[in-house]
Amino acid sequence: MCGIVGYIGHRNAVDILIDGLSKLEYRGYDSAGIALYIAGDLEVYKYKGRLQNLADKVEPLQLSANIGIGHTRWATHGEPSDVNAHPHISYQGKVAIIHNGIIENYAQLKDWLIDEHGIEFQSETDTEVIAHLIEVFYEDDLLDAVNRAVRRMEGAYAIGVIAQEEPDTMIAVRKDSPLIVGVGDNENFIASDIPAILNYTRDVLLIENDEVVVLTKDEVQIYDSLGQEIERDIYQVTWDAAAAEKEGYAHFTMKEIHEQPKGLHDTLHRRIDAEGNFKFEHIALDKAMLEKFNRIYIVACGTAYHAGLVGKRAIEKLAGIPVIVDIASEFRYSEPFVDDKTLFIAVSQSGETLDTLQSLRYAKQLGARILSIVNVVGSSVARDSDDIFYTWAGPEIGVASTKAFTTQLMAFYMLALHLAKIKGSMKDEEYNQWIEKLATMEQLAADTLTIDAQIQKIAAEQFNNESIFFMGRGLDVDIAFESSLKLKELSYINSLAIAAGELKHGTIALIQEGTVVIALATQAHLYEKMVSNIREVKARGAYVVAIAQEGNRAIEDVADDVIYIGACDNLLTPLISVIPMQYFAYYVALQRGNDVDKPRNLAKSVTVE
Ligand code: F6R
Repeated sequence: MCGIVGYIGHRNAVDILIDGLSKLEYRGYDSAGIALYIAGDLEVYKYKGRLQNLADKVEPLQLSANIGIGHTRWATHGEPSDVNAHPHISYQGKVAIIHNGIIENYAQLKDWLIDEHGIEFQSETDTEVIAHLIEVFYEDDLLDAVNRAVRRMEGAYAIGVIAQEEPDTMIAVRKDSPLIVGVGDNENFIASDIPAILNYTRDVLLIENDEVVVLTKDEVQIYDSLGQEIERDIYQVTWDAAAAEKEGYAHFTMKEIHEQPKGLHDTLHRRIDAEGNFKFEHIALDKAMLEKFNRIYIVACGTAYHAGLVGKRAIEKLAGIPVIVDIASEFRYSEPFVDDKTLFIAVSQSGETLDTLQSLRYAKQLGARILSIVNVVGSSVARDSDDIFYTWAGPEIGVASTKAFTTQLMAFYMLALHLAKIKGSMKDEEYNQWIEKLATMEQLAADTLTIDAQIQKIAAEQFNNESIFFMGRGLDVDIAFESSLKLKELSYINSLAIAAGELKHGTIALIQEGTVVIALATQAHLYEKMVSNIREVKARGAYVVAIAQEGNRAIEDVADDVIYIGACDNLLTPLISVIPMQYFAYYVALQRGNDVDKPRNLAKSVTVE
């Protein structure tokens, strides 16, 4: 998964490409490059390392061009290096290409290009075959050459192409990788994601699978897979470019942690109508459909999967429908109990996670109705769904998911209530009480944000540990999993999360003098059990940091440190108990000198398997 951007127009493409790529670095950042048409030739500048490295190298050259393509990479085929960086140029220098995705049959295509055309490959990438294929097929018509190349390609791709002999044209193609077009005045853009072009235009065309786009500076033509030109309505971006900037915070991750009260507010309040009921613009699910379903499947990856774990408990408790939660990369290769009596819920911040998208398509084939909880409007997951719950977290740029997670939780609570309501299994009074409880959570989240000094202190004491354990019971286990993932990805500390009751079945062997255990103990009905588990690890020398609801002073007798969150209904604690854990991961990572917004080896949007 990589970021692509392209420009054709009247301004200097160099500035626009570098600026656009800076908004896409979340998609990958191990190398970056640009290709420009300058005075009759295609010139490529590409380097291993962050975008800043590329910017520093091209700035003194004072390059100027009106058409160009740019790329920020997350390596799949071939290590991060100058030569494997994109753009890739074809064997005679006639075509330059950027690509996000994977060409699954690249090895066969490569053999064919070597055997039949004697082409020498420069890089280890799958992408290079696309550049050569297009040049092999090029006979004075770039669109025809791209179409012929695409017919030979299998896999997932969003590509951008420019050609030496057609300097007034740029071509882009989408198959299973995100692609949008920005429409400007005497200028047009392509990009993997909207923030890349938002400084220049708010008029966007969302490109669908198997579509080919031909851009000149004053025209955009979209063709379907049969070569028929199609009309597409402009999507007007209403959110602000500033929403994708840091606004004074040191990191996007910190800014996004702080945006959680607003995310909770927006997700909830935009859906409440004048009578105080939920009203979902993109959900058509009704009583008749719901009566048909005998189970719900929730499928997602990483943090979104953890939201699904909480979602299961919320739906089962509030709506009384059995729920199975699965990891998308497992689900898509399993034989699930999915049929036309299944409601399938896909959860994804980006809406582009390949495993989630393919799971959704698999469930659809098996007859399920698809509802997605998704943050990015118009993303692939959203477009392939029957019902959509947009989370309204706003753009999430930090690679580690924070505000998307809490809005996904909010979405699940709301959906659970909605399902109960349409099923007729919950009285109006109870339904209204739950909505009131949900409405108090944004303030509790804001209160939780004020405890950062305490967490910073704990992080400063614990950042040198080789491993940190998390444990909990009930909903706290789900948040233990999420807390552990956050710590791993930001701090690179080895971390394990377990159901506290499982300690004695093996993991307690790892506990010794000084081992740090973070014990989530927010669930009143499981509190005594948690205290026993805390005593068990304390007896083996562990240093215990507990998370508890305010008012629970007794826990101070067993834990070494206590972090208090506001008192609320047991079912809703995940909305706030995760916040100190996000802070903890952030501050530990800072102490260790890590790049918090762009942790090593990761990318924001995982559009490969
Ligand atoms: C962790 C994280 C990842 C994502 C996962 C799914 O902080 O960000 O685990 O949650 O890659 O991504 P989406 O939600 O975009 O499908």
